Amino acid sequence: MHTLYSLCFWLENTSMGSSIHNSTWMFPLIETAHLFGVVILVGAATVLDLRLMGVAFKDYTVSMVAGRFLPWIWAGFVVQVVTGILLFSSEATKMYGSDVFRVKMLLIAAAGLNALVFHVLAYRSVGTWEKDPVAPLSARFAGTFSILLWFGIVGAGRWIAYS
Ligand code: HEM
Repeated sequence: MHTLYSLCFWLENTSMGSSIHNSTWMFPLIETAHLFGVVILVGAATVLDLRLMGVAFKDYTVSMVAGRFLPWIWAGFVVQVVTGILLFSSEATKMYGSDVFRVKMLLIAAAGLNALVFHVLAYRSVGTWEKDPVAPLSARFAGTFSILLWFGIVGAGRWIAYS
């Protein structure tokens, strides 16, 4: 853990971390881009999740919705990781001590795991059920769990400022 703290201390004192930390406009600007990334990522993921849950877009097949929205999910995720690392670098030692930040990272890992399990299990046989308005239980579960996880991730992200 001590090594991790040293790494955070080093990152915060790099020219990247300290310029963001000492600038009045850089942090808010990057945070705005981070929020725009939330819109792209969570917006696109929610469309796919609602289709999996059988709540919306039922006249489109699951693979059609996945094909259209997965590239946006990935694009949003890349924006989030890049802007997230920049924000983190400016306050790394504070984030090291933040339990809420740790919860947020765990929830992001859980969302990734949920997507991976869905792809390996339910999505493999998508050809047999994708036209059904209501998807199999495992797909409905993955969609519902995903929405709950994104809700938690956004909530934890917002909560960091007050913790
Ligand atoms: C992957 C999906 C992610 C989502 C949905 C997300 C969401 C959010 C939200 C909603 C905020 C609050 C913004 C505000 O208060 O205006 C936030 C802040 C932040 N996020 Fe993320 N985030 C994600 C990924 C990441 C990653 C990968 C990192 C770091 C490696 C990160 C680091 C941060 C930091 C440092 C803050 C600022 C905390 C503060 O001082 O208030 N985020 N995030």
